[in-house]
Amino acid sequence: MTCFSFCFTKKKASSAKQTFEADEGLSDIKNINLYSYKELRVATEDFSPANKIGEGGFGSVYKGTLKDGTVAALKVLSSDSRQGAREFLTEIKVISEVEHDNLVKLYGCCVEGNHRILVYGYLENNSLAQTLLGRGHSSIHFNWQTRRKICIGVARGLAYLHEDIRPHIIHRDIKASNILLDKDLMPKISDFGLAKFIPPNMTHVSTRVAGTAGYLAPEYAIRGQVTRKADIYSFGVLLLEIVTGRCNTNRRLPAEEQYLLEKVWGTFEKGELLRLVDALLNDDFNVEEACRFLKIGLLCTQDMPKLRPSMSTVVGMLLGEIHVNDKEITKPGLLSDLMPPKAKADRGQKCKAEMKNSTDTASSGLGKLYNSSSSSEKITSSIATMTFNSIYDRTN
Ligand SMILES: Nc1ncnc2c1ncn2[C@@H]1O[C@H](COP(=O)(O)OP(=O)(O)O)[C@@H](O)[C@H]1O
Ligand SMILES: [Mg+2]
Repeated sequence: MTCFSFCFTKKKASSAKQTFEADEGLSDIKNINLYSYKELRVATEDFSPANKIGEGGFGSVYKGTLKDGTVAALKVLSSDSRQGAREFLTEIKVISEVEHDNLVKLYGCCVEGNHRILVYGYLENNSLAQTLLGRGHSSIHFNWQTRRKICIGVARGLAYLHEDIRPHIIHRDIKASNILLDKDLMPKISDFGLAKFIPPNMTHVSTRVAGTAGYLAPEYAIRGQVTRKADIYSFGVLLLEIVTGRCNTNRRLPAEEQYLLEKVWGTFEKGELLRLVDALLNDDFNVEEACRFLKIGLLCTQDMPKLRPSMSTVVGMLLGEIHVNDKEITKPGLLSDLMPPKAKADRGQKCKAEMKNSTDTASSGLGKLYNSSSSSEKITSSIATMTFNSIYDRTN
């Protein structure tokens, strides 16, 4: 392994289908550890399927043991992913700038021929999606103290990205599969492939919409203007998932139960929030705290972005240092309210985001987002329109 400033000549990738075009951007990045492809191949026993621990739109993730004995997670960009090449660069740029207990740690990367690999600290307990929300696939019991610690940790990591570092960073893909857990179930925010720096003096950046249906703030999905409030919305959805122990969308439930945010809002209006706390806690939780966390989730997902609290305020509320006023909670922003009437009527039967494993630019309207039948929920769209233009598969 060597430590270097990115300054290298492009090697010709002899048999590769496509060479990466984004190499130019690498010259900005300094002082990052560089691993050889050979070392990483040895570390993962030739990227053996037995060592595969995750899969996303970016490529596959493998567990490996480095030369010095350190256990790492290797995120391998698949060579035919254009989207991935962009995300690889973004992820290196962002993560090499930040350091916090609640963010994953980048050890370095491999940029050799056509290989692009990110090397991260390995996190023993995988993601919240696979453990807490992947019921039955995990033996971990998430008691109230653990859930509380996870909510506060993620909020702190996000407050750091939003408020402590300059320029501020918007993550854009806060969700259960991007929250990893270490051996003590301490949460770490991961997957910075979609992150954006906000230039000084700007409140938003305009961009193609990217994110995951169910976590996407409506104003961002529609106008493509991303502010920190879009992350805060996604955090609010995640908070509700952690307290209730269920995914934001569950199509096996009756139509009126399918959307967690709608359900939480309706239950809050009836004054019955306590009913929603995960039954697996067996009533062994702090009632005041659990209800407060659900209310904070509602505050974060309000329709009006400016009403959503900043992440540092959220941390204060979670810790009980800042008062949560029930009267200030207004209706959540629900993308379903923007559905065309027909899609809305049909949503119980077929309400999944379009999946296309491409970046085609054929126009597909908002209705299509809610009215197609494939299985991915990862979406991107064009700037400032009601149209979702290029929708691609990025399931993790
Ligand atoms: N550092 C890590 N330790 C353990 N598992 C990881 C690590 N990084 C990623 N994973 C696993 O791989 C999955 C995909 O990784 P992620 O960084 O989210 O990639 P993508 O950009 O493809 O979504 C995660 O949901 C998780 O299950
Ligand atoms: Mg991911």
